[in-house]
Amino acid sequence: MSRQALVIGIGTGNPDHLTLEAVAALNRVDVFLVADKGTAKQDLIGLRTEICRQVISHDRYRVIEVPDPERGPDRGRNTVQYQDAVQRWHRERAARYADIIRAEVGGDGTVGFLVWGDPALYDSTIRIVQSIRDHGRLPLELTVIPGISSLSLLAARHKIILNRVGQPIHITTGRRLVEEYHPGLGDVAVMLDGDLSCSRLVHDHPELGIFWGAQLGLADEVLISGALAEMIEPIQRARAELRAARGWVMDTYLLRPPADNG
Ligand SMILES: C[S@@+](CC[C@H](N)C(=O)[O-])C[C@H]1O[C@@H](n2cnc3c(N)ncnc32)[C@H](O)[C@@H]1O
Repeated sequence: MSRQALVIGIGTGNPDHLTLEAVAALNRVDVFLVADKGTAKQDLIGLRTEICRQVISHDRYRVIEVPDPERGPDRGRNTVQYQDAVQRWHRERAARYADIIRAEVGGDGTVGFLVWGDPALYDSTIRIVQSIRDHGRLPLELTVIPGISSLSLLAARHKIILNRVGQPIHITTGRRLVEEYHPGLGDVAVMLDGDLSCSRLVHDHPELGIFWGAQLGLADEVLISGALAEMIEPIQRARAELRAARGWVMDTYLLRPPADNG
């Protein structure tokens, strides 16, 4: 019998957003492995461990922080060198996790990974577990528990549907937005955007609407919606205030062209 690996979507920090399936899964875990990505993320680790404390009804579980291996600077690497470096980094990380699991989790034990939001959206935990099996040569039986993603919460808070009737929705990152944007995409949801890249669309696409949300699900949640051209400055201000108060900000937004383009 191999060890179980539970990848558990926990929503974005509000324990009310845990599903009953996630609570049951959290209660089955012997050891939680949490990536330690430096002090900036300590607050998020704190939120995750607080969720465990609130919903796990026993004290037999442990939380182990796993430092991420150093990847070195990507600047100066060509594409092949960059891909080599990333692959090496993935293998090192897989080996590190495998060693810890062998040492800390019994042969029929359960290791848990807490995933912010939903594991299916911009998260590499499922890939990590697969590479622990492949590169770390450690058999693990994987189960994935979905969670409420920041996009689900964005839509619920603004009381909107992410897509138009029968239309697709394009989900992308801030890094790609400006390059790939055209109104034919329809509704575009943007994540991982540290720079509010949509500000660079205002000039060419003043017709766009925006539904923006930051720290969704947390006590300092902020929502702003309206015409992109008018809302961009209030959003920039709100973002800066949140960052100043908490030290970090996580935001996501939907860009919506007028109905005749959608
Ligand atoms: C690495 S991705 C993880 C996404 C996550 N798996 C999900 O389902 O939402 C991180 C990005 O998700 C978005 N995000 C995560 N939590 C958020 C929150 N509480 N409020 C707004 N956006 C959030 C932000 O765009 C952030 O840059």
